[in-house]
Amino acid sequence: MSDIKKIKDEFLEKLNEDLNIESVNEIKSELFGKNGKISTSFKNLGSLPAEERKKFASDLNFVKDELQEKINKKIREIEIKEINSKLENEKIDVTLPERNIVQGKIHPVSQVIDELSSIFSEIGFSVEEGPDVENEHYNFTALNTPDNHPARDMHDTFYLDDKKELLLRTHTSPVQVRTMLKGKPPFKIIAPGRTYRSDSDQTHAPMFHQVEGLHIDKNINMGHLKGCLDYFIKSFFEVDKIKMRFRPSHFPFTEPSAEVDIGYELKDSKIVIGEGDKWLEILGCGMVHPNVLKNVKINPDKYQGYAFGIGIDRLAMLKYGINDLRAFFETDYRWLNHFGFDPLDVPSNYRGLSR
Ligand code: PHE
Repeated sequence: MSDIKKIKDEFLEKLNEDLNIESVNEIKSELFGKNGKISTSFKNLGSLPAEERKKFASDLNFVKDELQEKINKKIREIEIKEINSKLENEKIDVTLPERNIVQGKIHPVSQVIDELSSIFSEIGFSVEEGPDVENEHYNFTALNTPDNHPARDMHDTFYLDDKKELLLRTHTSPVQVRTMLKGKPPFKIIAPGRTYRSDSDQTHAPMFHQVEGLHIDKNINMGHLKGCLDYFIKSFFEVDKIKMRFRPSHFPFTEPSAEVDIGYELKDSKIVIGEGDKWLEILGCGMVHPNVLKNVKINPDKYQGYAFGIGIDRLAMLKYGINDLRAFFETDYRWLNHFGFDPLDVPSNYRGLSR
């Protein structure tokens, strides 16, 4: 009997400790497993003298029941504790205020590129892209700007190698060449993107953005160019009337060439497009030079067309009243928060940028 009492005391004490399910199961098999202490005690019953056996068996049964019950109780306790801690940790506090979603803003340049793309797509232009790292041939030679042509110096080019073969494109015009080499006329494309020149002041940044336009077909003339630009400027600035002026100019890849100014006036130091007697230059354009067409194996007697290049940053500054170009590229969060645009799908719990 003393053996059984010892087992009982020992295990009751163990079961009083702070246990997890695994250690309770271990205790269970130490007692009731195949070679468990209680199981072997039962096996040993047979070897006891008959007069002791009955008492021992009854004591053993008592202890067995007591330990069994204690184990079951312990398991229930652990399970309840687990459920409670889950309830505690996973509870949802429906009274908590919702969290702000930090929603980015769309940069004015990206916004204007989207606007341009949709305005031009309405009159049949598709969007093309070209690489920022361009070769000298596409950036200059194919565009009728041979070596030693003074226009090359005007571009203040960033060259990427000593042989001056690779460069950061100085305009989006090489996309004209790439597009025409890729397919067959007619072409009606715009190509927005980054451009680079070694230049920096309040209205010039070494990286800036242009959108190229190219329309090649049979019988395209300067009237089409004028109509296209008139439509674009009105749509972009959301005005019914504009004043537009073509000034004769020179680009090696167009003939004739023009620079286009739009009329504006200042009202309460704000620019109003379409009225007044002040002029702002916004783009360069012209009829694609026959040499450019020849360079891309298009017969200039059969096909002709116009091209234009517009400064995107300038457009954004004019439309959205931003007066320092450099701020566009300084990645100042406060600036972007002020001048940036909300995406179309704004979640209902949007609270603006939080920092
Ligand atoms: N590529 C010219 C520039 O960067 C603009 C332009 C494009 C002019 C197409 C004529 C035709 O200044």
